[in-house]
Amino acid sequence: MTKPAPARTAPATEWWRSSVIYQLYLKSFADSDGDGVGDLDGITAHLDHIASLGVDGLWLNPCYPSPNRDGGYDVSDYRTIDERYGGLPAFERLLEAAHGRGLKLLMDLVPNHCSDEHEWFVLARQAEPGSPERSRFIFADGRGPDGAEPPNNWRSTFGGPAWTRVTEPGGGPGQWYLHSFDSSQPDFNWANPEVVDMFDGVLRTWFDRGIDGFRIDVAYAMVKAAGLPDLADPEGDNPYLWNQPGVHDIFKRWRAIADSYQRELTLLGEVWLSPTDAADYIRPGELKQVFYFDLLQQPFEAGAFQLSIDETLAGLKRAEAEGVPTWTLNSHDVHRAVTRYGLIEPEPMSSADANALRTRARGQVDVALGQARANAAMMLMLALPGSVYLYQGEELGLPEVQELPDDARQDPIWERSQHTEYGRDGSRVPLPWSADGPGFGFGVGGAWLPQPSWFAGFAVAAQDGTPDSVLSLYRRAIRARHTIDQGAALAWLPTGRDDVLALRRGNFVSVSVFDGPPFPVPAGFGRPVLLSQPGDGSTLPSASTGWYRS
Ligand code: NOJ
Repeated sequence: MTKPAPARTAPATEWWRSSVIYQLYLKSFADSDGDGVGDLDGITAHLDHIASLGVDGLWLNPCYPSPNRDGGYDVSDYRTIDERYGGLPAFERLLEAAHGRGLKLLMDLVPNHCSDEHEWFVLARQAEPGSPERSRFIFADGRGPDGAEPPNNWRSTFGGPAWTRVTEPGGGPGQWYLHSFDSSQPDFNWANPEVVDMFDGVLRTWFDRGIDGFRIDVAYAMVKAAGLPDLADPEGDNPYLWNQPGVHDIFKRWRAIADSYQRELTLLGEVWLSPTDAADYIRPGELKQVFYFDLLQQPFEAGAFQLSIDETLAGLKRAEAEGVPTWTLNSHDVHRAVTRYGLIEPEPMSSADANALRTRARGQVDVALGQARANAAMMLMLALPGSVYLYQGEELGLPEVQELPDDARQDPIWERSQHTEYGRDGSRVPLPWSADGPGFGFGVGGAWLPQPSWFAGFAVAAQDGTPDSVLSLYRRAIRARHTIDQGAALAWLPTGRDDVLALRRGNFVSVSVFDGPPFPVPAGFGRPVLLSQPGDGSTLPSASTGWYRS
């Protein structure tokens, strides 16, 4: 088993600027009560594992009451914790244990939509068109004879129309409501002050309970283009649904709420935008952090990585951003990095979602290659200025589970795309803790998504104490990152090769070889500190990163 690590104290002020946070898809982390679904006490029981990585905090995916049609991103009550995860008492136990180890705890805020089982939406369905209850959501009359056509031609991100028709209280076919995602996730109407007030209260409720911040789900979606205009190309991107200027007013409001607390809190936006546009979300007085998913969407190529990093840093300057970029290479929404970088024969794929095309391709994978590349990319990411988010299981080098039986798939994308897109279940399979036993140690009741037999080789117990395991590399890399002077700016160093990137921050140098023959590392880069592949550091092989210090 993992040895308990000594508690480390995160920097008292602005800890979020350089923090490494571990993302918990809690349904799949560890199950303490044997019902096959992970829970909060499961996390508390495995805090040693998280602390052993040397991270600064945790981000919990939604754990509010929810019918779970979209992995908890369909919230039916924002103010408490789902009993399936242990309810509020289990949350308080986790918060106390995490803080006791100096770990921050962030929750997931889902403000664009709720569940169709949220009491407001239940009331809206029962109410009349034009009623105050309906005005908390985006209801509209249909088009065509009898209003039988949706109000506009927008598509849901998960496939199919973005509108669903309700039956009016009298029993007849009625109005339509907008849902950017699944039909069980009605979009709120943010022009309604009741919605604004409700979320002010939600923020305060959780800040008062002691959390350290929120990751904000689809933070660029809450405000839609006025008049909800038709799209010229309904199959293409929908510019009317995302990144409308009015959304920034919401963040100014939330920032004032966060700043009214006597401790340092963070607000992190999930926005799938170009590095240039993302920077607007962390201008002074807005969010403190924003995800830069651009890096995650790049192929494993030196030029692509460098351009993405350069555009990010230039965008921050242009926007005079106060906040920091947040880097990530994995999440519960994309195929795991080992699979993305190791994909040697992609299958043809179609999706209306451009992000899906770049992050969820399937096909034949060279796992060893993918793992070497993922480790190299992870070390390059950890060398960058800003904050880093890791997704549970990446520290084990887990590939995507592509072979889930179709009848086990839970992601609404599978049904809504009429089985043309497999969705995101393959990165959400419960973690293997031991090489055998029920659920590979996930829990005595087995696992809510089937784990493949090859999970045994990736188990925590199989890697713990093994110096050349992926787990050991993550532990060393995260600890070594803490020794980088986070105030030091990034400068690229010449390498004389298109397939090799070298960057300096103070006396620290990170060198990544993407392709090609071994790269002889110039002596001026310093002494080797950590290598993603075995060697003495004088040369670096393809698909590797080395860290040096002078
Ligand atoms: C982004 C979340 O990460 C994803 O899992 C979810 O399906 C959508 N937002 C909708 O809430």
